[in-house]
Amino acid sequence: MEGGNKTDTVSESNVKYYTLEEIQHHNMSKDSWLIIHDKVYDVTSFLEEHPGGEDVLLEQAGSDATESFEDVGHSTDAKEMMQQYLVGNLHLDDRNKDSKEILITNSGESSSWTTWLIPALAAAMERIDITQQFQKYTGCSLGRWT
Ligand code: HEM
Repeated sequence: MEGGNKTDTVSESNVKYYTLEEIQHHNMSKDSWLIIHDKVYDVTSFLEEHPGGEDVLLEQAGSDATESFEDVGHSTDAKEMMQQYLVGNLHLDDRNKDSKEILITNSGESSSWTTWLIPALAAAMERIDITQQFQKYTGCSLGRWT
């Protein structure tokens, strides 16, 4: 017996990344790829088997079908089934850029209300204390020099 340890499991290091431009070429019935949740599926052999029909898949071939896929409300079975057509991931540069922007804006934020409120309170309390001491020892009320 030889080669008994060989498996077909796809490990993280083997995952392929495809650019949107590459994926867009796979847009025909002989060669249909779909992007769903930033993953790339080759559904060519599945077109005729798809319970929702081949036309809906062909309409989205070569593009991002996440919204249409979710709108249908596919079953857990359908989600498990799609794993066998997985060929890779959408390239990081072609993913939704909004989420990256949010991260950048928030990470630069270091100030919070505590950084100015605590010194302001301390200063106010010190001032009240000085005023009271002054009144106690001089009998003079600050701000009312008559
Ligand atoms: C690899 C991707 C896909 C797989 C494995 C898949 C699988 C399935 C399965 C198993 C069903 C039967 C109902 C269910 O179990 O939810 C179904 C129905 C359906 N699918 Fe998909 N699907 C895929 C992608 C898509 C996409 C991208 C669209 C839309 C563009 C779509 C549109 C539909 C429609 C319209 C139905 C019929 C729903 C109904 O009759 O109620 N599917 N699909």
